[in-house]
Amino acid sequence: MPAQLIDGKAIAAKFKRDIREQVDQMVARGMRRPGLAVIMVGDNPASAVYVRNKRKACAESGIVSVAHDLPYSTTQQELIQLIESLNRDPSIDGILVQLPLPQHIEQSVIIEKIDPAKDVDGFHPFNVGRLALRVPLIRPCTPYGVTKLIDHVGLSPKGRHCVVIGASNIVGRPMALELLLMGGTVTVCHRFTGDLKPYVSSADILIVAVGRPGIVRGEWIKPGSVVIDVGMNRGADGKLCGDVDFDGAYERAGWITPVPGGVGPMTVAMLMKNTLESAEARLDP
Ligand code: GUN
Repeated sequence: MPAQLIDGKAIAAKFKRDIREQVDQMVARGMRRPGLAVIMVGDNPASAVYVRNKRKACAESGIVSVAHDLPYSTTQQELIQLIESLNRDPSIDGILVQLPLPQHIEQSVIIEKIDPAKDVDGFHPFNVGRLALRVPLIRPCTPYGVTKLIDHVGLSPKGRHCVVIGASNIVGRPMALELLLMGGTVTVCHRFTGDLKPYVSSADILIVAVGRPGIVRGEWIKPGSVVIDVGMNRGADGKLCGDVDFDGAYERAGWITPVPGGVGPMTVAMLMKNTLESAEARLDP
């Protein structure tokens, strides 16, 4: 029997509707709208698409988005000065610096300049550390969104074998921490793992976040498993595709996310949720 699709777009739309309602209630109580500063340095075309989606989601959710589109030539010091002024700005609840940054700017230095209470991406070492220590505060958006998709399927990771392919700071590592928090038995595969097949074949829940189309073959998938594809690639035919051979996996998995329309919309919805909660913590401590 083919897999059931996990409709991330519809699930994200429900989150955004709920967030909009909560924002409208805040405004009705006399509070200001949550404010999100979205910073982009340079003109990476993929980043431009992601940033546009984030700003559109703000409009849908009733959140004020403040655009800071900076030229590629922006220096590290100039970016730090902007972040420090946004840290002090009482109308800003969330600060998002779209990654990757130009080569001449040190990503980790920039992330550590963001006030952890405004770090709605959840990338600051303080927020990653809280997640690692099982006391999460602001959680990285993509892994957090994936946990909501798993909740939606109704299969608890508790005691299941959860395999994460990819060990990036943005997805793989925090994803492993989220799955551990949910009681999963977690394996993380990465560039030095070698043969992925035995890991994929034993996964009850498989999360793939590599950025290489077809890195997971359909015939490796454990029958009935949950397959979450975080990849977002442009295939040889010009169409968007994930990292998993979708057609093959669809025949074996119990549940699978499509690309596009799976994880991507959930990342943006969790960004809205983090911004709302950051504003609530600030306005209603
Ligand atoms: N680049 C790719 N994914 C992300 C993300 O979730 N947040 C930011 N800031 N940059 C990214």
